[in-house]
Amino acid sequence: MLFPIDYSDRKETGRTGERVSAIGLGTWSIRNYENALKVFIYAVENGIDNVDTAEIYDAGRAEEFVGRLARMVGRDRLFITTKIHPSHLVDKYRVVKAAKKALARMGLRYVDLYLIHWPNPSMSISRQVMNFEVLVDEGLTRYIGVSNFDRAELEEALSSTRKAEIVVDQVRYSVRHREPEYGLLEFAIRNHVTLQAYTPIEHGLVAKEKLLSEIGSKYGKTPIQVALNYLISRPRVIAIPKTENMDHLREILGAMGWRLRAEDIEVIEENM
Ligand SMILES: NC(=O)c1ccc[n+]([C@@H]2O[C@H](COP(=O)([O-])OP(=O)(O)OC[C@H]3O[C@@H](n4cnc5c(N)ncnc54)[C@H](OP(=O)(O)O)[C@@H]3O)[C@@H](O)[C@H]2O)c1
Repeated sequence: MLFPIDYSDRKETGRTGERVSAIGLGTWSIRNYENALKVFIYAVENGIDNVDTAEIYDAGRAEEFVGRLARMVGRDRLFITTKIHPSHLVDKYRVVKAAKKALARMGLRYVDLYLIHWPNPSMSISRQVMNFEVLVDEGLTRYIGVSNFDRAELEEALSSTRKAEIVVDQVRYSVRHREPEYGLLEFAIRNHVTLQAYTPIEHGLVAKEKLLSEIGSKYGKTPIQVALNYLISRPRVIAIPKTENMDHLREILGAMGWRLRAEDIEVIEENM
């Protein structure tokens, strides 16, 4: 097996000492915000406490939605992550301006975690990270992190901070998309960086995987639940699927509270 099994459904963010649910919810491509609100409230009432959004999702409407959710359930019950468009990273003034706009959309004073959505290819990693750090100084976020940074980029980001630490790298990771297992995850574990796995159920396509269905039948679990459990069984990995469907949410919730056995994780590692 590539990594020891992490049995906890509460995962530490970086080395902040703060734990959040091993599964959070994404907000990309929400079709009906009213339905989604009901589903997200149910999720919070049933143990999910972290949500992910970004300024570019639905031109700011996803951030507005997360703000609405926070007002419904109570700000202190949510760990909110949002992401800045890399074009704002050119100077500190623009970083702050973009974040204040995002916070105004959400109706919040601060978020818990702000990520660079992807590296700005026209700037050095160190310059963008240094500009980004200002958000912690200004009290607009509690923590910072990155997204879509590969191992080398993450390493550079970690060594570029002056005061704040990079606590998260949000990357694509699923049973069908396992790149993080070839270097990045091992590096993240060693450096106490949490990986948020996006597109963790491949837009629902993992439901059709015969192997996951066979494995799941031994536990009374569905392929979606096996696919998510595989991810959260990794140290430092949080999965952030998106759903606005109550049945899908219940299925997602059933991915926590148990673990695949090592031999089944190995079968997935070797055959997918
Ligand atoms: N950092 C980045 O660059 C980046 C990139 C992509 C995504 N993300 C984040 O990660 C989140 C998740 O990724 P994603 O939305 O790309 O993909 P995903 O979570 O793998 O798939 C979401 C899709 O799967 C469906 N679904 C959810 N639960 C299901 C279930 N139990 N059975 C069958 N289908 C189900 C959803 O439809 P229903 O809503 O109808 O359930 C939705 O269409 C995003 O929302 C976003 O917050 C970040």
